[in-house]
Formats: sequence, C-alpha cells, structure tokens
Amino acid sequence: MLILGIETSCDETGVAIYDSKKGLLGHKLYSQVKLHTKYGGVVPELASRDHINYIIPLIHDLLKDCKTNIQEIEAVAYTAGPGLSGALLVGSSVAESLACSLGIKSIPIHHLEGHLLAPMLEENKPEFPFIALLVSGGHSQLIHVKKLGEYKIIGDTLDDAAGEAFDKTAQLIGLGYPGGAALSKLAEKGTKRYNLPRPLLHSNGLDFSFSGLKTAVLYLVKKQKNLTEKIKADIAYAFEQSITDVLVKKTIQALKQEGLKRVIISGGVGANTTLRKKIIAESKENKFDCYFPDLSFCTDNGAMIALAGSLRLNMPNKENYSFSVKPRWKLTEI
Ligand code: KG4
Ligand code: ZN
Repeated sequence: MLILGIETSCDETGVAIYDSKKGLLGHKLYSQVKLHTKYGGVVPELASRDHINYIIPLIHDLLKDCKTNIQEIEAVAYTAGPGLSGALLVGSSVAESLACSLGIKSIPIHHLEGHLLAPMLEENKPEFPFIALLVSGGHSQLIHVKKLGEYKIIGDTLDDAAGEAFDKTAQLIGLGYPGGAALSKLAEKGTKRYNLPRPLLHSNGLDFSFSGLKTAVLYLVKKQKNLTEKIKADIAYAFEQSITDVLVKKTIQALKQEGLKRVIISGGVGANTTLRKKIIAESKENKFDCYFPDLSFCTDNGAMIALAGSLRLNMPNKENYSFSVKPRWKLTEI
C-alpha cells in the first residue's frame, strides 16, 4: 500500500510516500528557517502561512519524483499534534480533504511517535521493545517503547529541552536560530578549557534539567572581555560535552532500570555527532545495540509520518473526514 505522509507541526513542511512493502519511495522537505531567523525563533502565524504556500507544490513534486499518480495513494497520514495549532491545521486540512476526495483512509499521527519510529526507516531496524532517547527542540524524554502505541515515559525534562538548550546557548554566542547544528560544528574546533555543570548527572532518577547549564554559559559569556572565535568554540565544546554526558549517562541508566538491550536516539538533537559517538562507544562497553535514523530524518520530516501511518494502517478506521488538531497531545494519550 502507498501512504502519503504530511508533517507541518512547526517550521518544516515535509511530505513523503511510503510503500508498506518496499519502504520509503521518496520525500520532500521545505525548511522555513530563513523566514524565522530574523525573529530569533519560530513565529507561529508566519509558519502557518508558509506551510500554505509550500504544501501543495511539494506534494506535486513528490508525486512526480516518485512517478506516482495521486489516485494510486491509498492512505494519507498526517501530524495531528503536538505542535503549533495553525501549522498543524494546514497539514491536517490538506490531508483530510485529500483523503475525502480520493475516498481513502486518513490517519492522524502523534508527532513524537513519528520521531520514535524514524529509525525503522533504515535497513537495520530496531525491534520492539526498546528505550528511546527522544531529544528535540521541545522534548527530552526517555521512553520505554513496548510496542506500537505503548509508550511509558520514564524520564522527562524538568525545564529546557535538549534542543532548546542547544538553541539558547547558540544564541548566547551569536550563532542565530536554530543554533544546534551550528553550535555542534563550532564545537569541533573547540578544546577543553572550561568545565560546565552536568545537571542531575548523579541523581538516581531519569529526569533532565538543562536550564542551569544554559545559565552557566550565560555567566561564562558575560565574564569574557573579548568573546573571540576561539573562546566561542571552547564554550561550544564545553557545552556539548556536558549535555551529551548527561544524555548518555541517563540513557544507560534507563536501559539498566528497564532491563533492555536496545536503544534508539531520535529527534533533532539525535543528529549530533558527539552524542552518536558517545552512545556507540558505550554500546560496545555495555553490550547493547543502538539505532539512529539517517541524519535527514532526525529533524522533522514527512517520511517518519508516512512510516507511522503504514504501521497504523490496520488500526480502526476514523468514522469520517472531520478532524481536530491537538497542540498539546501527550504521547501516553494516543
Ligand atoms: O526534531 P526537531 O526538528 O523539531 C522538534 O520537534 O522540536 O528538532 C529541532 C532541534 C533544534 O533545537 C535544533 O537546534 C536541534 O534539534 N538540532 C541539533 C542538531 N541538529 C538539530 N542539536 C544538536 N546538534 C545537531 N547537530
Ligand atoms: Zn520534531
């Protein structure tokens, strides 16, 4: 079966076609980063309007690239939440009206479930159950994924999410928005000069707290008389080392606590090379398997939504093509 996936929860318009037998046929992404950069963050109203501009042309291009006719699509999956309500409404209304006009099934998907399942787009897929470290702009969670739709959140952020901490730190050293990837690139040029806190590293629980780390960066930046490129790189390095140490330590703690031997890392921060390297090193040491989505499927994309749709195909049908989005949908309430 061919499933069209649509993602518009924030500032990326993503579309993809997933073949339940052959896998991913193709995907397209339009990032609004340039549009929001000058405001230092996502402006919800602008995001919704830009999704409207790009979603239909992207679907046309995708169908053309995949040499697929719209009539061949057999179901439409779309992100119904959580996210920005206006942005979610664009994807949902396009998906539901398309499904209605074609007389096919529509499948509302939880955005985080999309991230959780993204490693299954790869050839080497994880099997259930596994621990997921879901680290994105809005979330830092450790989840015991028992099977499709059965998610136990065992660790959560008490304040800033990991991606948010990356973005705020990047902003403090003048890297613009969203700064996670840029900060990580700068950190490659840094060396060990500063020692930043590793919040909750030694606590017994699995929760995260990164706002103190961000404040420590703020004080460090303020202390500098001349914030040279070298100092910026060293701060980026220290920040990345601290945050990844905490993420990795808690992930291993979660595997031990839940008695599991498989872990997946997903969400935008999952694209971080240092985090990946540290988890891979620990997996050899502690004998567990780790799985990652391709770098392009760590951040928001339509492919993970199309895949989630294909896995949810056999769930009970929605009764009609009416819909409502859930900007604050909890993963445990699917
Ligand atoms: O999953 P995502 O695209 O959106 C949400 O659902 O939130 O994640 C975006 C986040 C941003 O905070 C961005 O700065 C961060 O992921 N990010 C990174 C990297 N690439 C993206 N953080 C650290 N290292 C990266 N390479
Ligand atoms: Zn996301």
